[in-house]
Amino acid sequence: MTKFHVIIPAAGSGSRMATVLPKQYLPLAGRPIVSWTLEPFLTCERIASVHLVLSADDAHWQAHATHHPKLSTLHCGGETRAETVLNALKVLNVEPSDWILVHDAARPGLTHQLLDYLLDEVEDDEVGGLLAIPLADTLKRADAKQRVASTEPREGLWQAQTPQMFRYGILKEALIKSGGAPTDEAQAVEALGLSPKLVTGQLRNLKITYPQDLALAEAIIAADHHEAKK
Ligand code: C5P
Repeated sequence: MTKFHVIIPAAGSGSRMATVLPKQYLPLAGRPIVSWTLEPFLTCERIASVHLVLSADDAHWQAHATHHPKLSTLHCGGETRAETVLNALKVLNVEPSDWILVHDAARPGLTHQLLDYLLDEVEDDEVGGLLAIPLADTLKRADAKQRVASTEPREGLWQAQTPQMFRYGILKEALIKSGGAPTDEAQAVEALGLSPKLVTGQLRNLKITYPQDLALAEAIIAADHHEAKK
């Protein structure tokens, strides 16, 4: 039977957060961000294994470790996100047809419902797919002085989120050929001439990138608690 495995690349420095601690370890509602990120995968029965990929010199995971029989940690982070994911694929012992879901370590708002929706929408797909949101705002291109150079048409544009899910064989081939440059997995698969499926995501599945994103994520978690208590 085709299995679902998860890779969480967590070897980035998160320089846009301007914090000493890598962003996945920053506290969010009393727990490190990465512990929220891991939860929907560890508690979803359809997911067979979860692999958190750390940089070789990660000095923080030990202090924040979550233990779970489905979770393994790999200390093989690369120079780029694509290299980190490829390094993990090289050590996974799975079937070429198994699904690999790649999810950002600092995307703590994924829900079980959204994860299930993605799995349902993509599991019979030839190519694979990703969560994404149609662009809502008007797009401006900036010049070197941070003045508007032009307004870009937004028709047909989507903002890519994660998880992005592809079969092991396709994803490995795509990332080997990509040379480590793509900023997401779909881009590497597109370069093979394939068209990944866009599955409508949700704003709550935001990636913590800037300091103000933390407050937004806290508010979402607080609202979840409030809902759960009703
Ligand atoms: O920097 P950005 O937010 O785009 O990173 C997305 C994800 O890729 C993060 O989870 C980050 O830790 C990971 N990453 C990685 N190895 C790198 C760079 C980024 O695992 N060399």
